Amino acid sequence: MEDLDLLQEAASEAEAAKDSRTLYEVKMKFLGRTGKVTGLLKSMKELAAEARPAFGKRVNALREALEEKFAALEEKLKRKELEEKLAGEQIDVTLPGRRAKEGALHPVTRVKDKLIDLFSGMGFEVFEGPEIENEYYNFTALNTPADHPARDMQDTFYLTEEFLLRTQTSAGQIRVMEQKKPPIKILSPGRVFRSDDDATHSPMFHQMEGLVVDKGITLCDLQGMLDEFAKKMFSETSKTRLRPSYFPFTEPSVEVDVSCAACGGKGCSLCKGTGWIEVLGAGMVNRRVLENCSVDPDVYSGFAFGMGIERIAMLKYGLGNIKLLTENDTRFLEQFKD
Ligand code: DAH
Repeated sequence: MEDLDLLQEAASEAEAAKDSRTLYEVKMKFLGRTGKVTGLLKSMKELAAEARPAFGKRVNALREALEEKFAALEEKLKRKELEEKLAGEQIDVTLPGRRAKEGALHPVTRVKDKLIDLFSGMGFEVFEGPEIENEYYNFTALNTPADHPARDMQDTFYLTEEFLLRTQTSAGQIRVMEQKKPPIKILSPGRVFRSDDDATHSPMFHQMEGLVVDKGITLCDLQGMLDEFAKKMFSETSKTRLRPSYFPFTEPSVEVDVSCAACGGKGCSLCKGTGWIEVLGAGMVNRRVLENCSVDPDVYSGFAFGMGIERIAMLKYGLGNIKLLTENDTRFLEQFKD
């Protein structure tokens, strides 16, 4: 009778199991290695030899019956669980989708594009020179003698005695004049490199160079064009002023200030109370530079200018630190969406 009781006990516990895990535990309780049915089989050795076959047969029958029962219940529970899982995993097509993050143009790219747009409207063409230059294009041809401080090891990244990372896009002026006869009206954007690093200087930055060479070009042409540039880049009421300066490749040379857009020229912390902000260097192309490129300075004249694109971006967007432009912090970059 013992086996019948066991069968009933196991069957009722198995039927009460609500999930396949509990069912498995019940199964182990009876059929596992230390389970009750297994225990019965093990106890067989205590019986008299003649009683063993009949006992063994009964216990085996019991085990088979239980195995069948468990298998059937297990299948039922597994199916139920699968159905529940599938029902729970249904896709809700009405949920809002996950938006992909939208990119935006980098402020340096925006300013560069704006400059190209603005100057091509005045008839300038874009010419891009190489970032690795030789010292002839970067210095010598630009009338920068060997003892000029700009050639110093401290601000120039020399690759060899002859080759260097260009320190200025002005090198492009020479390349253009070698390739093209006047009239010339080009714009040369690109990266430049100097051993310089603080809140307003970075070892790599971008410049925009401009060069105009033709018959009868004067400083007035330069100033007229710069006024137009300042109005389009900063504000309709922006003005420019030229201050005498020195660059080896221009004569006369000027530094160009734009009236401070933040205070309208009254004086504020941005313009350090002067009402003006220096934005670029420019001048009339030095006769020696024209001669170096086989352009006759008695027939042709020209002006050139060069500006730092980061500097324009900092002024335009009111940035206090040039590093913001290279840190790639998306919280900063995201603000430059149209
Ligand atoms: N190359 C100069 C610099 O890097 C900027 C510059 C000044 C460019 C005067 C010019 C120019 O073309 O005429 O500081």
